[in-house]
Amino acid sequence: MSNLSVNHLLGIKNLSKHDIELILSTSKNFKEVINRPIKKVPSLRDITVANLFFENSTRTRLSFELAQKRLSADIINFSASNSSVKKGETLVDTVNNILAMKVDLIVMRHANAGAAIFLSKKVKAKIINAGDGAHEHPTQALLDAFSMQEKLGDLKGKKVAIVGDILHSRVALSNIFCLQKLGAKVKVCGPLTLIPKYITSLGVEVESDLRKALEWCDVANMLRIQLERQDTKYFPSLREYSMMYGLNKELLDSIKKKIVIMHPGPINRGVEITSDVADCDQSIILEQVENGVAVRMAVMFLLAGRQGD
Ligand code: CP
Repeated sequence: MSNLSVNHLLGIKNLSKHDIELILSTSKNFKEVINRPIKKVPSLRDITVANLFFENSTRTRLSFELAQKRLSADIINFSASNSSVKKGETLVDTVNNILAMKVDLIVMRHANAGAAIFLSKKVKAKIINAGDGAHEHPTQALLDAFSMQEKLGDLKGKKVAIVGDILHSRVALSNIFCLQKLGAKVKVCGPLTLIPKYITSLGVEVESDLRKALEWCDVANMLRIQLERQDTKYFPSLREYSMMYGLNKELLDSIKKKIVIMHPGPINRGVEITSDVADCDQSIILEQVENGVAVRMAVMFLLAGRQGD
């Protein structure tokens, strides 16, 4: 079977293992394409994509836009801050007006969890979730899995520690679903105030000691403290957070094996990770960004090719 089982990419939770493996193997082909001298292919010629960003983004927005250009799609970009959303237009009205211009595919980032699922039920277009609140960030999890596979091969049995603000992180949830479907083991690590109580029901273990988590894992995915999503104090100060859960070079070098260091960005240097770790040879942070273009090309190529409602 060489087709996705879904018409939209709303999250990793509703993807099958086959869907994920198909996206990752297609990404491998597109990575080869974007490393050629001529990086453009006609795969999405005659497809029009609207990038709707209701929340700030650097990597995801630019990566989707570049992926669309590499696939020869026509694109329009929308950001809520300078749109008629400011005059009170609803999400559904906004999107239906954009679709009236004959748009085929919507890429949307929104601050509210569930926004992409809601939209997929209200409008006639294929929707790709580019991050919805603290819910899911599926293309980030796919590019993370792709980057891990490049370093470690098959992820079955590999151990991944996700460290930091799990409570407010859409990256954590999508990574947990994706890694488990690929057979990896996942632990989360952070202050218990930033670990949601339901997490163990997902089959994830909790470790509150960063050194123990690092000694256990093959990959440490260091997450940012999402201060913009916190309406209360979850730890005494950033300084104390970084003393307990920040990864510095001294700690990394004291771990007996060479673990892979990842971060979805944006990095708060000196808080969850020091500069000498972010930039060291164990870090694959910029490889994650490079792989994001290939993975997003694969997702849009596969969804656009799928016949559905
Ligand atoms: N990783 C990620 O989603 O980064 P942006 O918020 O810059 O898109």
